[in-house]
Amino acid sequence: MLWGGRFSSGPSETMAALSLSTHFDWCLAPYDIAGSAAHARVLHRAGLLTDEELDRMLAGLETLAEDVRTGEFVPDPGDEDVHTALERGLLERVGNQLGGKLRAGRSRNDQVATQFRMWLRDAVHRVTEGTLDVVEALERQATAHPGAVLAGRTHLQHAQPVLLAHHLLAHCQALLRDVERLRDWEARTAQSPYGAGALAGSSLGLDPDAVAEELGFDQGVDNSMDGTSARDFAAEASFAFAMLGVNLSRIAEEVVLWNTAEFGYVTLDDSWATGSSIMPQKKNPDVAELARAKSGRMLGNLTGLLTSLKAQPLAYNRDLQEDKEPVFDSVRQLDLVLPAMAGMLGTLSFDTERMAEMAPVGFTLATDLAEWLVRRGVPFRTAHEAAGECVRLAEQRGVGLDELTGSELAGVHPELTPEVREVLTVRGAVAARNSRGGTAPERVAEQARRVRERITEH
Ligand code: ARG
Repeated sequence: MLWGGRFSSGPSETMAALSLSTHFDWCLAPYDIAGSAAHARVLHRAGLLTDEELDRMLAGLETLAEDVRTGEFVPDPGDEDVHTALERGLLERVGNQLGGKLRAGRSRNDQVATQFRMWLRDAVHRVTEGTLDVVEALERQATAHPGAVLAGRTHLQHAQPVLLAHHLLAHCQALLRDVERLRDWEARTAQSPYGAGALAGSSLGLDPDAVAEELGFDQGVDNSMDGTSARDFAAEASFAFAMLGVNLSRIAEEVVLWNTAEFGYVTLDDSWATGSSIMPQKKNPDVAELARAKSGRMLGNLTGLLTSLKAQPLAYNRDLQEDKEPVFDSVRQLDLVLPAMAGMLGTLSFDTERMAEMAPVGFTLATDLAEWLVRRGVPFRTAHEAAGECVRLAEQRGVGLDELTGSELAGVHPELTPEVREVLTVRGAVAARNSRGGTAPERVAEQARRVRERITEH
């Protein structure tokens, strides 16, 4: 028990059950032990542990770390949280006399705030790697299909033809922003609350910056109250995870659509699809569907966390114990979803013929017709009208825009000479959009190059 002195009884069983967190915070154990070793060193430097005591303490912590790793040491039902359990473990290994000295100048409040950051920094690295694998899978598909075209959509309606590579790279852009968001987060989270004590700092002449450095942080926090009670680092990471989840869900949704008989754009590799227990013909896009659903779960985690943080007065409140599960859960989901998405996307086969065949359907070249008139000096307003009329005529006759006769075209607008047909091809339309960020092949090749650079930068 950590607070025996002023209590005449232990907690009731019900209270203890409510309080318990070892079933989810045990993953902080390696970080807690690393923090304890760093803390032992600053206690020693402050003259509060002898050389011999420091050696014994570090040896005890090392054995404890090993026993945690092998599963030899596990929390007891009587241990309230990971910190309590590990203190018991240390006392068992080095004795109460020495073990009892480690608690000087620290509190579970600064311990947990520090360890949660450490855990999250490692998790963020993993999520970043996993995200880059998805970006790479998409970029490879883009590069493997340099000439493939499809109808780009707005409102899910055929809009203008684009390169498949342009479409896939659009998703890469969003995911790379997610990666960069996580990297920015890192800089703000690189401060260690260790040494802040319960809330006010320590009177024992300890050096929080030394602990910070040993634990891989840039420095200690500037304010002990903020350091022990702020969880915006957790909320911000949860937002980045949720945003990443949402971006993945947008890709997933397209895979689901593209995999339908109506689209017929893609075939899933057998190892990234599932069958049906009753319908022998089925090949279902479960990876995409699960990714789509997990994004909802991650949004829930973000919302739940922010709601628990709202209106908490300074400094530490026990409410803060509720900060970890939603964050752990989002990371667990991403650990599952990211490699699955990378695998599914990397092995997707595209029916580029089907895509090309569908690309002009729905008069996706109407804008090209209008822009051709603009280049001949016709105001866009008039050109838009004229192109619209051509669409109406073609629709009535059940033909494509390029199949309108010379007199039909001339009847719509005197400037519409038969040469307009030269721009009424999917390839021509795509090649013409060569503005920065446009879908023209040379622009897309540049874009793919930049995406590859950004992948290797991280
Ligand atoms: N397990 C707690 C948490 O996760 C840390 C313990 C702090 N408890 C306390 N009564 N001050 O936040």
